[in-house]
Amino acid sequence: MTDLSADDLLLLEVDSLCVDYRLKGTTWRAIDNVSFDLRVGEAVALVGESGCGKTTTAMAIAGLLSPNAYVRNGEIRYRGERLYIDDDAAMRAHRWSHTSVVFQGAMNALNPVHRVINQIAEPCMLKLGLSRNAAKIRAAELLELVGIPADRRSSYPHQLSGGMRQRVMIAMALACHPSIVIGDEPTTALDVITQAQIIKLLGDLRAKLRLSLMLITHDLAVVAESCDRVMIMYAGRIVEEGAVADIFARPKHPYTQLLIDSIPDPAHGKRMIKPIPGDPPNLLNRKSGCAFHPRCPSAMAVCATQLPNLGRSGQGRVACHLDRSSSLQDEIPAYV
Ligand SMILES: Nc1ncnc2c1ncn2[C@@H]1O[C@H](COP(=O)(O)OP(=O)(O)OP(=O)(O)O)[C@@H](O)[C@H]1O
Ligand code: SF4
Ligand SMILES: [Mg+2]
Repeated sequence: MTDLSADDLLLLEVDSLCVDYRLKGTTWRAIDNVSFDLRVGEAVALVGESGCGKTTTAMAIAGLLSPNAYVRNGEIRYRGERLYIDDDAAMRAHRWSHTSVVFQGAMNALNPVHRVINQIAEPCMLKLGLSRNAAKIRAAELLELVGIPADRRSSYPHQLSGGMRQRVMIAMALACHPSIVIGDEPTTALDVITQAQIIKLLGDLRAKLRLSLMLITHDLAVVAESCDRVMIMYAGRIVEEGAVADIFARPKHPYTQLLIDSIPDPAHGKRMIKPIPGDPPNLLNRKSGCAFHPRCPSAMAVCATQLPNLGRSGQGRVACHLDRSSSLQDEIPAYV
């Protein structure tokens, strides 16, 4: 067997990415100097409060940024080749064939007037160049792979349960043999049991098809169970990243500590989610220094003035002045 080098395993590199949104003459930064990579077959979670930039990061990778989004800095490379993420035609060729997305709320994403088997066959014809018959055979195989019984494959979306519809979305995401599947809160609209089934399905498919999975979720229990690595985002920046086992056992960033501490733990008498005091920052009016400082129980004077760098710390990375690696400011200014 040939040993794969680190370069062979490197699938996606996001390098110093900055994305702004513009609306009614106002511009604000949603993604600020985000860098990370994704390796073949690994599952990485992206976690953080609402509005911290998880979906924007995912949409940038898939070339699905909305028209009022502007890439101000940085680049994304797939297998070492630069992706022109704001070039719709270039990204149309990349999307679904290399990177695909499973969104939350399958009912909105599926076409209500077409049978699900035909909706999956269509990209097989368009992207893989299969004949109608061959595309239908592939669609049936994909539906079988995600656990849709044979007698339900010709159903319309409204005839399927929420969990089945999400399975159809996963089948569609796999239609063109992608290497990366991004799940943007793929189980949010589902009941707890169905959520667990869908997460298990994604894990099984990852192993079977050697997929790389990027899972966006608010559910830290899901992260702990199903991911190798986790990136914690706050106000458009990655503030901590590391192996799931390390982050859960020894979170270094105070925000990560509070996030983990917020998880209910009935075995130790903690039945309710413990909210993090204070509000997420207003991206329209960014303050200097660490974005978390108004809420941080460990804030120091330097935190109000100096942005902590995302520095290497042990096997992971952390952006906090409590960690020596963060004492230098980032090279990329907050606004360009
Ligand atoms: N199309 C858009 N136009 C303007 N602003 C946007 C747009 N999409 C997102 N934003 C803003 O960009 C910031 C990041 O949003 P994003 O959707 O990436 O966050 P998120 O972490 O996915 O949040 P959630 O957990 O609620 O899904 C937020 O302030 C959001 O209001
Ligand atoms: S840099 Fe300062 S304010 Fe920010 S998380 Fe670290 S200690 Fe808290
Ligand atoms: Mg989102």
